[in-house]
Amino acid sequence: MLTLSISSRLWEAVDEDWLQCLINESVESLLLIPSGIVQDHWPTSLKEFVLTLKSLVYPREQADLKKVFPNFQPTSLNSVLAQGMNLKKKHEVEVLSAIVSSAASAMRADAVIDVGAGQGYLAQVLAFEHQLSVVAIDACSHHGKVTNARAERIKKHYMAQMRKFGTLLECEEVRAVISIGCCYNLLSEEGFTNAQIQYGFPMSCGVKSVNLSLGKSSRDLACQSAERWKSLGKDAGLHNFELHAFRAAFQMVLHKYFPEVGTSPSIGRQGKALRRKQQRKIIESELQAEESTYSDLPQMACNMDEACSVTHSGESEAVNTSGIRSDVDALFTKMSLHTGSTCERTTSTDKYSLFEKFCQSGLCRLGLKPSDNINFHGIWKGVEPYVSLIGIYWSLRAAFGPLLETLILLDRLLFLQEQGDVLESVMLPIFDPAISPRNVAIIAKKPDAGISSHHSSR
Ligand SMILES: C[S@@+](CC[C@H](N)C(=O)[O-])C[C@H]1O[C@@H](n2cnc3c(N)ncnc32)[C@H](O)[C@@H]1O
Repeated sequence: MLTLSISSRLWEAVDEDWLQCLINESVESLLLIPSGIVQDHWPTSLKEFVLTLKSLVYPREQADLKKVFPNFQPTSLNSVLAQGMNLKKKHEVEVLSAIVSSAASAMRADAVIDVGAGQGYLAQVLAFEHQLSVVAIDACSHHGKVTNARAERIKKHYMAQMRKFGTLLECEEVRAVISIGCCYNLLSEEGFTNAQIQYGFPMSCGVKSVNLSLGKSSRDLACQSAERWKSLGKDAGLHNFELHAFRAAFQMVLHKYFPEVGTSPSIGRQGKALRRKQQRKIIESELQAEESTYSDLPQMACNMDEACSVTHSGESEAVNTSGIRSDVDALFTKMSLHTGSTCERTTSTDKYSLFEKFCQSGLCRLGLKPSDNINFHGIWKGVEPYVSLIGIYWSLRAAFGPLLETLILLDRLLFLQEQGDVLESVMLPIFDPAISPRNVAIIAKKPDAGISSHHSSR
């Protein structure tokens, strides 16, 4: 947790030569570290560290899907089916629906089960555009209602008869699985989750046998995307580093003035929804409605949009010990934009007043009453000298993200391969990583089920 990096001065564990070099480095260069891009003048050991991490990461270049899937033809969504989708979602659904359709046809499958269907974007394209029977399953009942309402709207434009949605019972035998991971922070992990369930990590006997565990920080870190870091640019990058400093300083406020909150304040769903509503009102009244750039921040690097809302609502309870991440971070972004106070242009006073607002909102979000005794200024002054170190530390830390994701993906692949000859499994980057950084699909099929396996598993 970043607060610890301030109070425990975790950056002191980083090689001093590295810090001295990186303190003078441009934000743009820091943002390239998670992508494994080094600068010539860096100390050799730093270059080796970054390059070694990169060499261990599963490559993300989009595969030539036409070579892998017979008759692959990317779906081109019309405006009716694409309603509600942003560019990223549209890209994902266009590619994935074509892959599923190609696989279903090659395997003569008559039904598709979309597990974790969210609002049914993929399921509806498979049903309406590819005429497949689809069972859409999601743990969140609200998504079901949204999906049905959306289907009704789409149906009006499709004269063609929509095939009836099947039920799980109709699926006598599953012939193939296509899995795309995200929200690793929500993964259940053996030894960390107190439940009699099949854990999300580790799944394979191979990883279990070496007693390898990730822990909460690593699961969070696995959500970091090198592509997103790379694409941030100077202003958004600095803004993001500053946001981390704000979060860390806010946690110091909590620690000092609200020790009863502890390190993991529990926020019930209902209370959270109420506070969200309240927070939205504050944001709306304080600020002009500006398009939030929050989704561009690296820590937002979830593949699916609902994932982001699910992940981050989850994160606000599970990941961020302050419990304030999503709403207050968005507020921070809006405030920064509103005051034009990004990067070097921000004066120390601007930053301090931004920090105070950030804290007020965070306390409100947690249902805590800000008192006049809180010395926001003192806390911020204590943190301010370390803001540049936070950027460096966070960039080096984020470089582990792609590696941790690789580990999670390989564990899943290994689990499938451990099933023996029953399954053929491959791992394949199917989306354009610049649009959808979380782009790796794991595809498993019964050997006689017909799908091409030109892409070998690694
Ligand atoms: C990342 S979203 C994906 C949404 C959708 N696939 C899309 O592309 O738009 C993950 C979804 O999985 C659902 N989910 C999580 N755990 C689940 C479970 N055990 N069973 C069914 N759905 C689950 C969540 O409610 C959430 O809607």
